[in-house]
Amino acid sequence: MSETDNDFITNQHHLLDYLYNFHTEMSTQLDSLIMIAVKNRGWSELLEEKLHGFINFLNEDFKKYLKIEDDVLYMAMMKQISTLDHFLLLLKQEHAELLDLSQSLIEEYVSCKQFGEKSARLVCLLKQFCYSFSEHAWKENHALYPLAKQVLSLDELDQHYQMAVKTKPQDSCLQNYNDTIA
Ligand SMILES: [Fe+2]
Repeated sequence: MSETDNDFITNQHHLLDYLYNFHTEMSTQLDSLIMIAVKNRGWSELLEEKLHGFINFLNEDFKKYLKIEDDVLYMAMMKQISTLDHFLLLLKQEHAELLDLSQSLIEEYVSCKQFGEKSARLVCLLKQFCYSFSEHAWKENHALYPLAKQVLSLDELDQHYQMAVKTKPQDSCLQNYNDTIA
């Protein structure tokens, strides 16, 4: 993590802090999973276990992350800066593409598990998801979140955070995933 990232993360509201940390956690876990998927020559219990944990994470935590941004943060930003609509539309499209990719990944995982074989497509999908997510997270970390910090007041962010925590995955859920993937 760069010094700039450190400055940013220690001086922001907990809603943005949560989203920023989610990006970091997702990228770290994806890197770890890809390394295991590439190193394993074929299908193995270890690979299946790690993928199973990741699929659960996609089905729960990742979908909640998308919902928090789409329904809470993006809406709040749109009200403040109407000219952001093109940028926010782009980010929403990226969310939709990531969701499509995650669905393809889940289907490929089911197929691999059924036949007991690791497919090249599975590894490609993991790498593609990782690349697309990193690109998306960079835009939000370096453009959207700093802007949100400027234009949304602490009171507003508090209100939005209260809305967000209703959909935020429980810490234990993320921890379970971390335990599985570690
Ligand atoms: Fe996002």
